[in-house]
Parts: sequence; C-alpha cells; structure tokens
Amino acid sequence: MLTTIIYRSHLREDAPLKALEDMVTAANIKNRRSDVTGILLFNGHHFFQLLEGPEEQVKEIYRCICNDPRHHNIVELMCDYAPARRFGKVGMELFDLQ
Ligand SMILES: Cc1cc2nc3c(=O)[nH]c(=O)nc-3n(C[C@H](O)[C@H](O)[C@H](O)COP(=O)(O)O)c2cc1C
Repeated sequence: MLTTIIYRSHLREDAPLKALEDMVTAANIKNRRSDVTGILLFNGHHFFQLLEGPEEQVKEIYRCICNDPRHHNIVELMCDYAPARRFGKVGMELFDLQ
C-alpha cells in the first residue's frame, strides 16, 4: 500500500547549509533505492517535506529523518494511504524558496 507522510521542521541554527546540499544528494540516492519519492521545501529556516512510497520504506526513512540532529521541532502533519504517487519523478526534489 502506498503511504504518504507530510511533516514540517526547523533547521538547527548551527547546521551548516553546505551539509544540506550533501544531504539532499544522499537522500535522493537512498529514496530511489527504497522506491520512495517526494518533495522538500526549504525557506532558509523551515522544512516542509512530503514522502511517498511503500509503507515500510516510508516509515523507515521517516524514522531516520526524525533522529537527524540537523533539524528539530518536527511535527507530523499527515500520515495516510494514497491511491497513487503525486511526485513520482525523483527520489526527492528540493524546492529552495530563498
Ligand atoms: C529536512 C531533512 C530531510 C531529509 N530527507 C531525507 C530523505 O528524504 N531521504 C533520506 O534518505 N534522508 C533524508 N534526510 C537525511 C536523514 O535524516 C538521514 O541522515 C539519512 O537517511 C541517512 O541515514 P543513515 O545514515 O541512518 O542511513 C533528511 C534530513 C533532513 C534534515
């Protein structure tokens, strides 16, 4: 069953922005391998991410994300089953809103 999780979080003040570029590259590879797709919106302070894919894989990646010290104040906004993917093109597409 396809699952979608949406959350928002805050970048930690001391997290270097360069590390985020590397994180996005690595996340893309890992998501593709896990058949997980989605989008990540970032405005310089806040993240908003949608993850979609097979339930176990989405939850496993989300568990890693929740334990990541580069952000905090993680609030899950939605977790639901989905009939189809909404963002099926890439492992994770970053929208930098700055
Ligand atoms: C805002 C944010 C979004 C992230 N999104 C993903 C993601 O979509 N996929 C992913 O594999 N890792 C993502 N990460 C990185 C994970 O938290 C984690 O570092 C990564 O999965 C590697 O974990 P591992 O070393 O335990 O395999 C994200 C991190 C942050 C801070």
